[in-house]
Amino acid sequence: MDLYEYQARDVLEKHGVPVLRGIVATTPAEAKAAAEQLGGGTVVVKAQVKTGGRGKAGGVKLAHSPEEAEARAGEILGMDIKGHTVHRVMIAEGARIAEEYYFSVLLDRSERRYLAMASVEGGMEIEQLAVERPEALARIAVDPTVGIDEAKAKEIVDAAKFAPEVADEVASVIQKLWSVYDAEDATLVEVNPLVRTEDGAIVALDAKVSLDENASFRHPDHTELEDKAAADPLEAKAKGLDLNYVKLDGEVGIIGNGAGLVMSTLDVVAYAGEEHGVKPANFLDIGGGANAEIMANGLDVILGDPQVKSVFVNVFGGITACDEVANGIVKALEILGDAAAKPLVVRLDGNNVEAGRKILAEANHPLVTVVPTMDEAAAKAAELAAAK
Ligand SMILES: Nc1ncnc2c1ncn2[C@@H]1O[C@H](COP(=O)(O)OP(=O)(O)OP(=O)(O)O)[C@@H](O)[C@H]1O
Ligand SMILES: [Mg+2]
Repeated sequence: MDLYEYQARDVLEKHGVPVLRGIVATTPAEAKAAAEQLGGGTVVVKAQVKTGGRGKAGGVKLAHSPEEAEARAGEILGMDIKGHTVHRVMIAEGARIAEEYYFSVLLDRSERRYLAMASVEGGMEIEQLAVERPEALARIAVDPTVGIDEAKAKEIVDAAKFAPEVADEVASVIQKLWSVYDAEDATLVEVNPLVRTEDGAIVALDAKVSLDENASFRHPDHTELEDKAAADPLEAKAKGLDLNYVKLDGEVGIIGNGAGLVMSTLDVVAYAGEEHGVKPANFLDIGGGANAEIMANGLDVILGDPQVKSVFVNVFGGITACDEVANGIVKALEILGDAAAKPLVVRLDGNNVEAGRKILAEANHPLVTVVPTMDEAAAKAAELAAAK
């Protein structure tokens, strides 16, 4: 889960990282009031969207008075930055910047450890710097069992060639950023820019924090960081039902058991759909124990998507055998009753497939077509979706 900058700012502050005051505003009037609350001096109006390059897109602007903050907020609110509409701005205290640095720590999956990166040339061009002059961006491996202790922080600061006057202070801030990463179960903590102000303080002016959702059971307080307004309503409903669902932009609803099978189902439907001008409408993995209730919940979510015109149920019977799944489908259609008003193409294979097909044949539901192979079923589902 990616956090907004204002949320990341709060998390950093909680762990003692020096940050500037910031107040969220959703209207120009609130922005003006926020600037007044911050003392009426220079502030920065910053678009709060979960994407990079806000500054370059015109989403970060200086304002020298509350009136200017109001005007800049008026320009930034409603702006589109890489497909993200700006609904909120943060009014941040203005810093007098002497130098801009870069620091990040992230999960390095391929090396099975963490990676810290630092540079004395931070700011808005860090991606370019990494490509053009990789030597200016120090990369230091971090052992997960040790983390960034004092020695590791020194190693990072030395490798990035921080000036002696700031080295100790930067090393201390880096250790605090590590405690954010570690204690919050983050997969990324990135500060760009980390600045030295004209009066010599080291301050994090912009932060990106991604939290590991697999660890959310350890962090009940993280639920309030969830962006409920931005989440797709169908995805929110599916999450509430404990379903592994991702909304996509097509017409053929998809249910399968096992993430790999569902991924390949998306592929065959996308391929078959080309001819009919339709695409997969979602990813939904109902997992191993596909009983009637889970099947009904899954169908309910998919049928609730107004874009869906047909549904492809693709099940490979394993521990949960095909007859159980077939019973699940029949019961799910009973539970849903008139709510199930779209054609269902079912492909069953694997354990007890004959018994499963027999159950579906006997139920003889008017909406259900049983098709033996995955390719034929994908073609049928695409055809039905296009015919609607
Ligand atoms: N509080 C502040 N006071 C003074 N200058 C600031 C402040 N916040 C940001 N800036 C300046 O604006 C630049 C861009 O800000 P920021 O890093 O927050 O956005 P960005 O890098 O464009 O966004 P993103 O990180 O999403 O790509 C900074 O490099 C810094 O020079
Ligand atoms: Mg930045």
